[in-house]
Amino acid sequence: MIIGLNKITIRRPDDWHLHVRNDYLLKLVLPYTSSIFGRAMIMPNLLPPITNIKSAINYRNKILSLLPKNHKFIPLMTCYLTESSNPNEIELGFNTGVFAAVKLYPQSSTTNSSYGIKNITSVNKVLERLQKIGMPLLIHCEITDINVDIFDREAYFIEKIMQPLRKRFPELKIVMEHISTKEAVEYVNSSDNKIAATITPHHLMLNRNDLLTNYINPHFYCFPIIKSKLHQQALREAVSKGNPNFFLGTDSAPHFRCTKENKCGHAGIFNAPTALLAYATVFEELNAIKYFESFCSENGARFYDLSLNKEKITLIRKRCEIKKTINLFPYDLVPFLAGKTLNWSIKD
Ligand code: NCD
Ligand code: ZN
Repeated sequence: MIIGLNKITIRRPDDWHLHVRNDYLLKLVLPYTSSIFGRAMIMPNLLPPITNIKSAINYRNKILSLLPKNHKFIPLMTCYLTESSNPNEIELGFNTGVFAAVKLYPQSSTTNSSYGIKNITSVNKVLERLQKIGMPLLIHCEITDINVDIFDREAYFIEKIMQPLRKRFPELKIVMEHISTKEAVEYVNSSDNKIAATITPHHLMLNRNDLLTNYINPHFYCFPIIKSKLHQQALREAVSKGNPNFFLGTDSAPHFRCTKENKCGHAGIFNAPTALLAYATVFEELNAIKYFESFCSENGARFYDLSLNKEKITLIRKRCEIKKTINLFPYDLVPFLAGKTLNWSIKD
């Protein structure tokens, strides 16, 4: 890494949690990621979800076919875990390089999670197999009991699901996805190297006042819901200390403006165009630029036992105005931090 006052050069980063959707939306959003990131862990929550080798290969081929010619980008595929997932299919997918990981969505936790897991013990056989073959399990860590307050879903999940799960499968490699609380930070900090977590730019930059004060901002609405400042600060402190078990995962999750600015607004923030600049802003605010490269480009690859990217990317201190909207007639997308100006830009 080369750090100057007005220039930072790092290894090309990877995005360890990304939604690129499908068809024309995939075509629109993909280049925002593939122009910056070397690889991304592609989330499987399409309709229908990616639950087997065949659908993962088709989806990967579609992504590759829509890549702009000059972009070098590797999509890493995940398998959506259902209560009827077959451990043999998952193992075969892992051994043949089709699946990089399995994704566990608790049922009704988020967008397209209706095929997800109701009862964690129903997938014991799969979890046993993942532990045996060293295949990572990526978890959306929120309990969906309607009696649990939405702001407490993650903390409850850790207590009620994660802790017992870890006792049963101590060698299982787990990534807690898009963590949003002090409890999750403490859990990762006090765990061994089998547990890691991704952290999004929006959970680092926002707290629930940004979401709810004056007017509700549907473009800051996502799962896990943005928490109070106390939790935001715990996440910021986590990345500022350089613990290698935290790494970049944008959770860029595009939904058209009309489905966000809606009486039943969808959850998810489209941050692919701004994520890296937003992270740079946060690390600079925290006086932690020395950990910027490891968070963005090294910790995740090491956790997944993958090689580090060789190429470099340079950020320069130059004002960057974030577009208010990205058009896809007749719809449009509102990127994270739309209309704002950031101090960092990507060098062409
Ligand atoms: C994601 C989506 O829209 O696919 N939404 C979100 O709020 N983050 C799903 C997810 O990662 O929870
Ligand atoms: Zn996600």
